[in-house]
Amino acid sequence: MSQKKKITVVGAGYVGLVASACFADLGHEVTCVERDKQRLGRLVAGESPIYEPGLEEILHRTIGTGNLSFSSDLGKAVAACDAAFIAVGTPPRKSDGEADLRFVLDAAAEIARSIRPGAVIVTKSTVPIGTGDAIINLIAKVRPGLNVAVASNPEFLREGSAIEDFTKPDRIVIGCEEEATAELLITIYAPLVGKGHPLVRTRRRSAELIKYAANAFLATKITFINEMADLCEAVDADVADIALGIGLDHRIGPHFLRAGPGYGGSCFPKDTLALVRTAQEYGVPLRLVEETVVANSARKRRMAMKVRHILHGHVADKRIAVLGLTFKADTDDMRESPSIPFIELLQRAGAEIHAYDPRGMDQARKIFHGVSFHHDAYQCAQDADAVVLMTDWESVKHLDLARLASIMKTPVMIDLRRIYPPEEAARQGFAIETIGRTGLEPQPVKIFDSQFLFSDISESTGTTAGQISRVTEGAAE
Ligand code: UGA
Repeated sequence: MSQKKKITVVGAGYVGLVASACFADLGHEVTCVERDKQRLGRLVAGESPIYEPGLEEILHRTIGTGNLSFSSDLGKAVAACDAAFIAVGTPPRKSDGEADLRFVLDAAAEIARSIRPGAVIVTKSTVPIGTGDAIINLIAKVRPGLNVAVASNPEFLREGSAIEDFTKPDRIVIGCEEEATAELLITIYAPLVGKGHPLVRTRRRSAELIKYAANAFLATKITFINEMADLCEAVDADVADIALGIGLDHRIGPHFLRAGPGYGGSCFPKDTLALVRTAQEYGVPLRLVEETVVANSARKRRMAMKVRHILHGHVADKRIAVLGLTFKADTDDMRESPSIPFIELLQRAGAEIHAYDPRGMDQARKIFHGVSFHHDAYQCAQDADAVVLMTDWESVKHLDLARLASIMKTPVMIDLRRIYPPEEAARQGFAIETIGRTGLEPQPVKIFDSQFLFSDISESTGTTAGQISRVTEGAAE
């Protein structure tokens, strides 16, 4: 079997674009199909429409070698390919949080109309269990008698380190029912398997579930350490010590034990909700994942209450500088960022919000109303009553604290990413509230005392709040 395969990737979002560039860099001939004309134009020019470190370099290289091209013509692209990867979005349905498969099924139907018999259709998008079967049924309607296999090959890429995650994966998961399909996918990934990266072959449904199980487990792990952080604040312990002390146990592992403002992004919030929904449909409640969803949503309110506490209950008319808006560093992605409900809660309590983010401001402008944006962290914090460290961008991690304190109206810091040791911040004159350890001045917080609850905020404004309550209602049924 020739090692160079013809691959079509449908969708040039995070997953599709990274997969296209990396498959091409492995030596395959890749056509990435994108319907959005403006996005396509930028891609053809070798310009990445998303910010992902290292991606543009690979785009240039693979476009240069001729291994990667872009097209809007899906029919032509799949007519000659060995494998067509579906990498379109599966946003949560607003009504219930279940994954919306419209784009996946539309792409599958269109692929089926033109694909070469004997080729393989592969879902790379995160799709609910049974989607592979739904695609097979759809193909039978669209083009009866067509001989194509359907496989699942979930991705485990993190935004910000997607290239590294693709080229040095912990594992590659392939789910399919036929030997020939497995062989083709193993050939596609042969350069990575040859370097010692494990490949796990399963049935298609198992592969579909592995993706959700992995994200739900990681989200639960983060939520666990966040709850430990809350306990540390109450008992005067340090959550970093707890993370180290448990993480060195190889059965637990050191990763994803950083306490913070709660997980966000386009994956964990969406996938945990979708998994809960699927499990409910099958009558198998996933209590742990349900609790994770609820606890993570409640966490934003707790973060806002930290501001309230350190400002001695007075948030109205206070100028609050928020440094970092994206759900994590090294991405311009604002989807489900903890900064969104956090800022909205403070605004509803009457605060005047100033914000800075190195990459996320274009997207943030579309989300927030009444926020003043700044291109510089110091400018943002000028005359502020408090500064909140929301995302651990390099520029936020390397602030000159003495300078910051000197330009603020009052040097008050709420460090939601545990960037600065409280002692160091205090030396520069800051009163500091942090996560998972007692802050300095004021005294240890008893944050659930009713006096600290916002009287003027009755409901979390988290974007998934409605869906979460429906999840818990569903769970009680
Ligand atoms: C996540 C998974 O990590 C990927 O394996 C998966 O492929 C991807 O979702 C997806 O399903 O497409 P991503 O959302 O890019 O990747 O970001 P993560 O690095 O996992 O971070 C998610 C959230 O968890 C962020 O808000 C981050 O700040 C938070 N987090 C992460 C913590 O609060 N603490 C940690 O220790 C780690």
